[in-house]
Amino acid sequence: MNVQLTRQDEFALITLNRPDALNALSAAVLRELAQAFDEVAGGDARALIVTGAGAKAFCAGADIKELTGRSLSQQRRDAAFGQGVLAQLDTLPMPSVAAINGYAFGGGLELALACTFRIAASTAKMGLPEIKLGLIPGYGGTQRLPRAVGEARALEMIMSGRTVEAEEALRIGLVHAIAAGDALEAAIAFARRFSGFGLPALRLARDAVRRAHDVPLHEGLKIEADLNTLAFQTEDAAEGMAAFMEKRKPKFKDR
Ligand code: CAA
Repeated sequence: MNVQLTRQDEFALITLNRPDALNALSAAVLRELAQAFDEVAGGDARALIVTGAGAKAFCAGADIKELTGRSLSQQRRDAAFGQGVLAQLDTLPMPSVAAINGYAFGGGLELALACTFRIAASTAKMGLPEIKLGLIPGYGGTQRLPRAVGEARALEMIMSGRTVEAEEALRIGLVHAIAAGDALEAAIAFARRFSGFGLPALRLARDAVRRAHDVPLHEGLKIEADLNTLAFQTEDAAEGMAAFMEKRKPKFKDR
C-alpha cells in the first residue's frame, strides 16, 4: 500500500508511503488517498493528520515519471481527479492538519494546502516548482495558495518556482507553526487545541470563513448570521452554554 491509514489516539493518521520516490502522487497514490479520505469521513476521528513516510519528504508532488507522454485529454482527466481528491480532504467533516516533515513541492504542497492547518518541521522546504517543468500547478495550488498567503506572494512563488524555507513559510502564513522537534508530534499537539470541541461548530466556523472568499462582505455577514444560527440550534451549543453557567467542563456530543 502506498497510503497507510492508522489511528493515533483520537486522530486518524494518513501516511504517504513511497519514500523511495519522495512520496510522489502517482495515480495509484491518488486512488488510495480517495479511499482513505472516504474512510476517515465515515469514522469517528476528531481530526485527520496527513504526513509523509521517511525522513526526507512530505510529498514531492505529482509523479513526474507518469506525467511524461500523456495526452491532453488524459492530463485534463488527471487534473480533475487530483483536484477532486483534494476537495474530499478540504471538505471532511473534521479538521485536518498536514505534518510537513520535509519537502512539500507541487502537488505535495497542494495536498498540504487542502488541509485545514499546516505544521512544518524546521527543515521543511516548500514550493510550487511546476514552472520549472514548463507547467503550472494542477491540484489547486493557483487557488488555495493565494487564499493562504495573498495574491502577490502566491504569484511570486508560482512564477519563480522558488523554494520557501520553514521560517518564511511561518512569516507569510503558509504554515501555522514550526515544530520544535518532530513534525508529526507537533501536528498532534496542535490538533489537541481544538479536538475537544464539537465537530458541527468546528465545521460551521470553517465554512463561514471559507464561504466569505467567494462573496462581498454584506453577503459574507449574512452567511455568518445563518451559520451562527445553525450552531445555536445544536445540542452542543445548549451544553456549552449550560456548562458555562454551571461552571463545569462541557461534554460535547457532535450533535
Ligand atoms: N515524481 C516522481 N519521482 C520523484 C519526484 C516526483 N515528483 N520527486 C522525486 N522523485 C524521485 C526521484 O526521481 C528519485 O528517484 P530515483 O532514485 O529512482 O532516481 C527519488 O525520488 C529521490 O529524488 P532525488 O534524487 O531527486 O532527491 P534529491 O534530494 O536530490 O532532490 C527534490 C529532492 C528537490 C525534491 C527533487 O526530487 C525534485 O525536485 N523533485 C521534483 C519536485 C517537483 O518538481 N514537483 C512538482 C511535480 S509536478 C506537480 O506536482 C503538478 C501538480 O500541480 C499536480
